[in-house]
Amino acid sequence: MITKPTIDRIMEATDIVEVIGEFVQLKKRGANYVGLSPFANERTPSFTVSPVKGIFKDFSSGKGGSAVTFLMELEKFTYPEALKWLAKKYGIEVEETVEAPENREAENHRESLMIVSGYAAKFFHESLLETDEGKNIGLSYFKERGFSKETITKFELGYSPDQWEAFTGQALKEGYQQEFLEETGLSVKRDNGSLYDRYRGRVMFPIHSFTGRVIAFGGRTLKSDKNVPKYVNSPESEIYHKSSVLYGLYFAKKAIREEDNCYLVEGYADVISVHQAGIENVVASSGTSLTVEQIRLIGRLTKNITILYDGDAAGIKASLRGLDMILEEGLNVKVVLFPDGHDPDSYVRLVGTSAFKKYIADTRKDFILYKADILLKDAGTDPIKRAEVIREIVESIAKIPDSIKASVFIKECSYILKIDERALLSELNKMRMAKAKKDSQQQQHQQTQWPAPVDEALLYEPEIKEERDDSSQEKEIIRLLLLYGNKMIDWDGIANTYIGPFMIAELSDVDFEHKASKDFVELYRKEVENGVLPDEQFFIHYPDKEIVDLTVTLIATKYTLSENWYEMHRILVPDEQANMKATILGAIFHLKKQKVGKILESLRNELQKTESETDQEILLNQYMQMKKVEKTISDYLGSVILK
Ligand code: UTP
Ligand code: MN
Repeated sequence: MITKPTIDRIMEATDIVEVIGEFVQLKKRGANYVGLSPFANERTPSFTVSPVKGIFKDFSSGKGGSAVTFLMELEKFTYPEALKWLAKKYGIEVEETVEAPENREAENHRESLMIVSGYAAKFFHESLLETDEGKNIGLSYFKERGFSKETITKFELGYSPDQWEAFTGQALKEGYQQEFLEETGLSVKRDNGSLYDRYRGRVMFPIHSFTGRVIAFGGRTLKSDKNVPKYVNSPESEIYHKSSVLYGLYFAKKAIREEDNCYLVEGYADVISVHQAGIENVVASSGTSLTVEQIRLIGRLTKNITILYDGDAAGIKASLRGLDMILEEGLNVKVVLFPDGHDPDSYVRLVGTSAFKKYIADTRKDFILYKADILLKDAGTDPIKRAEVIREIVESIAKIPDSIKASVFIKECSYILKIDERALLSELNKMRMAKAKKDSQQQQHQQTQWPAPVDEALLYEPEIKEERDDSSQEKEIIRLLLLYGNKMIDWDGIANTYIGPFMIAELSDVDFEHKASKDFVELYRKEVENGVLPDEQFFIHYPDKEIVDLTVTLIATKYTLSENWYEMHRILVPDEQANMKATILGAIFHLKKQKVGKILESLRNELQKTESETDQEILLNQYMQMKKVEKTISDYLGSVILK
């Protein structure tokens, strides 16, 4: 466990804008920062960060919390992982209470998988650099490919010995559990239950997460035997989702942001060679076709992608349609083709960095124009084929969300395709209309999602129509505890009390139903009993996701329940702080009234079902008593509010 003083130090050092700014482009708007949600696909920023409160709130996905919560959500970190990440960033030494050795890899499942992967990377790296076999076979191979010592170290390249159990045996001996070795795919189970190494005799490329932890491997064979797969990759696991990982992104992200462009290549070797040549903004999709998740990963850093293709025409044509997806995400796509037989790796080694850069600058072409070019050449003079090409090109252009950009492409394509611009435009508009219709139908299905705030003035009070479910009165109590719990209230000069303890005492007979609210109130009660008045920050940084979620939602959005209630009673309360007494008592008694209402309802139900007269009498008695309570509450509410 990380100690409390360490946690405090981390919290103090953490600048939420700086942390989130590493993942999301943020723009200052008044006291806050806004950006595009990293959790949802959106075009209008609804993701807001409040440096003052140290929270973020994403109105698209509904997620919110502290810098720690953000890292947990985005990187799927555990709580301690997120804290350690921050500690590393801010140079804070982490103190942990000593744990039993058997707990060494038990923090949780994911953490264990990452620990095993990290251990494996170290093992392979050491066997590359320090064993005879590794040096003779693995290291000499990398040297031959022109990888420098620094590159090998930076990318943690390795070698897996050509033996059945070199790695597995050592890992088991050091206490790593079979379960995790198997799940990461580092080891494979035999029929008899024992394990053997998956990557025997291969050079190893560790795959890093966005934050630099090893989550998977690609192992390349050194044999030229066609029957042996060239690369063996880690299977999908809880820490490795192939479709949302880009090889090299961890090493490239800074340069991508600085250069405002991302080079996309196909293979591990391409990333490494190009990076070594000083072009660091390069990532690979690792041989599979690009996914939307991968595009969004890049889109958080830059809106410009340049695809560096091997010079293999068949492959290019096959991938053309997939690239429309990038346009749809609002990114600009350029394409560079290398001379036949070359991939970025071989080409950069052949011509050197500056000629490589020049080649890219000279030959890079916008994807749509490039697509038009290729398809038109294919179609020749056949009018039917040409018409088909035109339709396909316009289809791509229609995917561009920015209409000004789209019309520029229309112009250029009309020139290349030798077609009247107006004809292209009308085709474009047809497609646009069809798309708009489809989108609006889809949106109707998604109405339950949180709408984005209309403009930044509303950042902290977007018009959110919270469902008026049973939990809303409970949440109103939590909101008041958060905002005013540690403030004093003056009961008409009779007494001064703190609002929090007062409310907790008043609510001691109320059973909260909504789980997060119940936990929250329990937590508040415990703190009060310990003589502490917890504030907003206490709950924002509390290590429980549900508590943090509830807290941030309530702080970040203006909760409208009490106003609805006042409205219902035609009472105008423009500012809840102006009449604190009414606000607090109103909320408490309104909740009580709701609970009483529920009791009444269940009594009514029972009454209807009961046939025995004595039971009926008892129930009726209870019912009348509750009715009295209800009336008292109503009267009380009326008098308090009206006063
Ligand atoms: P390449 O065959 O182009 O490999 O496949 P490469 O990276 O250029 O390797 P070298 O230069 O021959 O050493 C491109 C990518 O496709 C994936 C790998 O991610 C590879 O880097 N791939 C390829 C596999 O996953 N499995 C394979 O069998 C082949
Ligand atoms: Mn290659």
